[in-house]
Amino acid sequence: MPQKRTLLLAALMLAAAAMIGAAAFLLAPGLKPGGTGVALVGGPFTLTDQSGKRVTEKDFLGRYTLIYFGYTYCPDVCPTQLQVLAAALEEMGPTASKITPVFISIDPARDTPEVMKAYVENFGAQFIGLTGSADEIAAVAKAYRVFYAKAGTGQDYKMDHTSLMYLMGPDGKFIKYFDYTTDPKALAGELSQAVAASSP
Ligand code: NI
Repeated sequence: MPQKRTLLLAALMLAAAAMIGAAAFLLAPGLKPGGTGVALVGGPFTLTDQSGKRVTEKDFLGRYTLIYFGYTYCPDVCPTQLQVLAAALEEMGPTASKITPVFISIDPARDTPEVMKAYVENFGAQFIGLTGSADEIAAVAKAYRVFYAKAGTGQDYKMDHTSLMYLMGPDGKFIKYFDYTTDPKALAGELSQAVAASSP
């Protein structure tokens, strides 16, 4: 139902707009377009995918990945960003098959592989969901300069977190990042350009 989806997307965009103040605060320190900090994004990791399989950064060599950190209980920012990502891939057409979207949880206490599986399926069959132990998540978040912190108590706590999408090349190296201001069309254009620029 495309219309229903569009409405959902619109609602999510509004929610995101309301969060802009918070999101700006969550932008990773030291990460500026064209800045020197960007070369330091990425690195080795060992995590568990949504089927329970252990994976490392080496499993993604040879393909582009678009990595986003968040959590499945996120009420607004994460679902909005993942919708934007999914819409951008749809917009790209066949070229989208060169890019693997990867959602990494910063809430491993609740985001088990089973929870991740049910969640990422909402955004497309090509989505990969990664989670791990608290230490593994801390390590991968550090490698990607992602900030996250628990907000609130009890079972319904939220997580504050950096909301950026990182495009990594087939060599595993960082290419560029996109923030919450990038709409699906712009993102599709940027991704197509990046893929074309480094294709033989
Ligand atoms: Ni979120």
